[in-house]
Parts: sequence; C-alpha cells; structure tokens
Amino acid sequence: MSNQALKANLHDHEPSIEEKLAAVNDTTRSAMVSTMLAPRFYTTDFDEMDRINVEPVRAEWDALIAQMRSDPNRGHFRRNADWDNIDINDLEPALREELTDFLVSSLTSEFSGCVLYKEMKRRGTNKEICELFGYMSRDESRHASFINDALKDFGIGVNMGFLAKAKKYTYFKPKFIYYATYLSEKIGYARYITIFRHLEKNPDRRFHPIFKWFKEWCNDEFSHGEAFSLIIRSDERLMQGVNKLWIKFFLLAVFATMYVRDHMRPAFHAAMGVNIDDYDMRVFRLTSEISRQCFPLVLDLDNPALCEGFRRMERINQRMMAAKQRGGVMGAVGKAFWGAAAGVNFLRMYMIPAKTNAIPATSRLQPVW
Ligand SMILES: [Fe+2]
Ligand SMILES: [Fe+2]
Repeated sequence: MSNQALKANLHDHEPSIEEKLAAVNDTTRSAMVSTMLAPRFYTTDFDEMDRINVEPVRAEWDALIAQMRSDPNRGHFRRNADWDNIDINDLEPALREELTDFLVSSLTSEFSGCVLYKEMKRRGTNKEICELFGYMSRDESRHASFINDALKDFGIGVNMGFLAKAKKYTYFKPKFIYYATYLSEKIGYARYITIFRHLEKNPDRRFHPIFKWFKEWCNDEFSHGEAFSLIIRSDERLMQGVNKLWIKFFLLAVFATMYVRDHMRPAFHAAMGVNIDDYDMRVFRLTSEISRQCFPLVLDLDNPALCEGFRRMERINQRMMAAKQRGGVMGAVGKAFWGAAAGVNFLRMYMIPAKTNAIPATSRLQPVW
C-alpha cells in the first residue's frame, strides 16, 4: 500500500473496520504479530496506580518532574541538515530487511509505551502521577513518530492508530508494570547509548542517519527509567520479600529476550561492526549497574553458567523457529518441544544465585556513559 493511500486512509474520514483491515499493510501486520518475543501492549489496574504516594521520594521526584517539564528535547526530533538521505535500495537485502525489522519493533515498543502512559494520564486523578505520565507519553509519541517518518522514506508506514486497536493487550498488575517498564526504559537507554558511542568512533559504519539522534533520545528513556525507579523506591515493599523473586524473574526475562532478538539480526549488527555477544553483555552490565538504584539484587553476569544459558536460549529459539517454518504436525510437535526446552532453560538460569545489592539512600543518577 502506498504512503498516499495510507495517509488518505488516516485523514479523509473515519474508516470502517473493513477498510481498516484492507488498509493494513505488511509492515503493520508484522508489527501486529504477537510472539513470545515481540514488544507487547500492556494494560493495568489504573486505580491502584492512582494511589501511588511520592512523599517518601519527594525531593528527587520534584527535581525529576521539573526537568521533564522543561522539555529539553522539545526541538530534537526533527530532521535537519544532519539527516543524510539514503536510498534503501543501496543496502544489501538482508540488511534492508533487518533494519526495517529493527525500526518496526522499536516503533512498536515506543508506541506501546505511549499508549500505556497516555491511558494512565487519562484515567488517573493523582495530579503528580498524571503529570509524569503526560510527559512520558509526549516523549514516546515523538519517538514513535520520528521512527515512522524514517520508515516512510522506505515507502512503508505503520498505521499506529490501527495498531493500538488491533494489538493484543496483556494485563499486568501495577508492580509488574513498574519492574518491566523500569527495565525496558533503562535497557533502552543502555542500548541506544552503546550504539551511539560505537558509531561515534566508527562513523563509516553508520548506515542510517537515525543513529545520530540516539544520544538525546536515550536521555528521555533514562529519565523515564528514573521515574519508575522513584515509584519503586516510594514503596519499600516493592523491593522486599517475594518481590525479590519477581525482580529476578524480570531481569532474566528482559535480558534473555534481548539476547535472542538481537541474534535474529546478524546482518544489522555486522553492518555496524558490532559483535552481538559483546554488545549484549555490555548492555546487560550497564543496565545491571544502573538497576542497583532500586533493585535489591543483580544477576551474576560473571557466572559462565549464566552466559551459557543465554547462548542455549538462542539455540533453542533457532530450533523453535525452524519448527514453526516447517509447519504441519511435526512443526507443531517441534514447537511444543522447543518451547518446553526454553522453559526448562529459563528455570535453570533462574536457579543461578544472584548477587544481593544494598539499595542506596538516594537514587538519582545522571547519564554519564
Ligand atoms: Fe522512547
Ligand atoms: Fe521511554
């Protein structure tokens, strides 16, 4: 479907469901596919979130909100002379495909954050929380639109309005939203800044102009992570008891997901001159170090058994994808078998002892990496 048709579909009139279905191009469809690994859309108990009390972290909260209110990135997400026009047809087919996949899945994550934060702002009555979520949805909406613009250069666009309606929503209790979103914001920061620093040193490897925008971009993600850190720190029960088991679960799930997904994009990383294992471990270490601000434990990234667990997860995922492609009864059996193997492997990794962490008295961090 052409850009023009998509635009017409978005702006001319409120389309019917049939028209919307017809309008879904392949890219939107691929953004809609919910697999174990794809970025999801979330919904939660907004009334409970409304009861967050930020008094215990008041000073740090006010400083963070003041910074977000000042909107340091207001003018950043616009194309300027730094945006070199590239022709997608000049890229190798594998790289072109993986770059598109990277952009679409990044867009989906950004937009999924935007939708969740906006909903919280809309449903809430807690002034502090609504203000925070307003700023965060503002930022994520800018991020998502910027990526969508980049995709339009390739003649593809994701119909975000459609995506928000059609994607499956997963219900998470508020505390799970805090852990998962905290981690995804911080790991997002760590990913973007690591790529930015690498390409700063190796500008000849920058095969798309969007990477030039990553520095200021990741500062937004950093602040969003700070906000969730304060929310977690505002209620010490969230860092104690059985919640420690949940924190370990989310650390492992987020890291393992990133590891598996990154390995599905070999051409993308090769073009940047990045070794995926090194890059992922570097991002894990950075995220882990940051997470000491509000998590009572960190994964033992120096334990070779844990690293082997990530690699095993990747091999299992490859077999699972092969089974999926095979289809039929054997495909279904294979998928179930390797799915169970992934579960067992996850459990083995989970049993590896974590390192305890003493939570510091104050938590605000500045992005210095
Ligand atoms: Fe974002
Ligand atoms: Fe964010």
